[in-house]
Amino acid sequence: MSKTSREAEDEMLLSLRGKQTADYKDFLFIYKQRASADPYDAVQNPHGIINMGTAQSHLMAEELTQQLSRSSAFAFSKKYQQYYDFSGIPELKEAIANFLTRHMNPHKQLLPEYIVVMPGATSCIDALAHALCDRGDIIITATPSYGCIFRDVNDHAGVIVEPLNLVQGKDSKTSFILEAEALRTHIQSLKASGRRVRAFILLHPNNPLGDVYEPELLHDLMAVCTREKIHFISDEVYALSVFDEGPRFHSVLSLEAPDPERTHVIWSFSKDFNLAGLRVGVIVNVSPQVTSCLRAVAEYKCVPHIIQHAAATLLNDTEWCDKFYLPTNRARLAKAYKETCKRLEIMGAHVRKARAGFFVWFSVQPFMKENTEEEEMALQEEIMDAGLYIAPGTKFYCISPGWMRLVFTVPKQELNEGLRRLEGVLRRRQAMLKILKTSKCAESLEKK
Ligand SMILES: Cc1ncc(COP(=O)(O)O)c(C=O)c1O
Repeated sequence: MSKTSREAEDEMLLSLRGKQTADYKDFLFIYKQRASADPYDAVQNPHGIINMGTAQSHLMAEELTQQLSRSSAFAFSKKYQQYYDFSGIPELKEAIANFLTRHMNPHKQLLPEYIVVMPGATSCIDALAHALCDRGDIIITATPSYGCIFRDVNDHAGVIVEPLNLVQGKDSKTSFILEAEALRTHIQSLKASGRRVRAFILLHPNNPLGDVYEPELLHDLMAVCTREKIHFISDEVYALSVFDEGPRFHSVLSLEAPDPERTHVIWSFSKDFNLAGLRVGVIVNVSPQVTSCLRAVAEYKCVPHIIQHAAATLLNDTEWCDKFYLPTNRARLAKAYKETCKRLEIMGAHVRKARAGFFVWFSVQPFMKENTEEEEMALQEEIMDAGLYIAPGTKFYCISPGWMRLVFTVPKQELNEGLRRLEGVLRRRQAMLKILKTSKCAESLEKK
């Protein structure tokens, strides 16, 4: 006798929800695991995989280690044995408020009470989805986009990301352009089809594009959200990793928000401080209602007291942070970015100019038989077989196939070796495409 679906459900070890979490196949996560199972080491494992797919930085590794070991950041204290304010200890909230005030030029005084601390921006995104949306609600983000957001808002909160697709244009300058009007149209068409749109998440600076947006665009995007009564979440984890000399970065905190209670900023130690392993992120928002929900959520998502103290110690050394760390980091980002672009261009790849972040977004279309997702994935697999992990654009929900994101903030020797491996694959591809073209020409001549 066949089982009823209820009986089958009763026999499941996991809940349906738990199974969904367990089965979630996030590309960036799977490939990070694949790369870490056989990590490259110039001496110990020279044939291992070089990870230029995960957005983490090694550019300031020595200096950070020295700074955190020199200070009393991790000295154990009796107070760490007790409960504390899980939404962030006062020492850290104050240090973050001071730090962001110095670097983000807030329009309104940034008070420590506007801050909630959580383990990384990932937790902040999950918590905001929980606080602001109900199951089945929509959050919009522009794509290509850091792909984990789709999972982060969905896994616990059951929120669905509806992409605002930016597309490839005639050239780099006209490709992947974000416009407020397109956001408005997208929100309205979703609403017209009966969907409940609750928020827009802007990745600023953008991951994977490395774009920095003009304040006029930010104003326009905020105005659209205000008119449509949806939340505006600005994920600014790369705010201080702008390495380009051009117009400076404007945090949403520095602008007059038309709907302050529905405006939220996320920042984290993972990128601007190259400390993804510390797991410290923050949400800044002025709404007492939202804060009271986030403080309750923080009971399940708290950063250990000793880590919060270490993070505060780091920020409170203002001389080191402002005069040494941040400018040195930016200079190293600029240098590594420039060198990487030069090498990619010599290989014949088309680079889209970035102004911030750890990555280069470039087109591999000159090396593809046709512009399809399958062909992009086949090329990505060939690169992986050559011992290099870089992430394909379709995994950032890019609807124009043939783009990839390469992280250049790896140690110098790995950068050289990784680019050498990439060049090998692209040269082979070029030769193969040439043969294909010649044989096609010969075929058509024969037919004539
Ligand atoms: C735009 C963006 N937001 C959030 C995150 C997650 O950061 P965290 O390590 O602080 O959770 C990342 C990580 O790559 C990111 O690129």
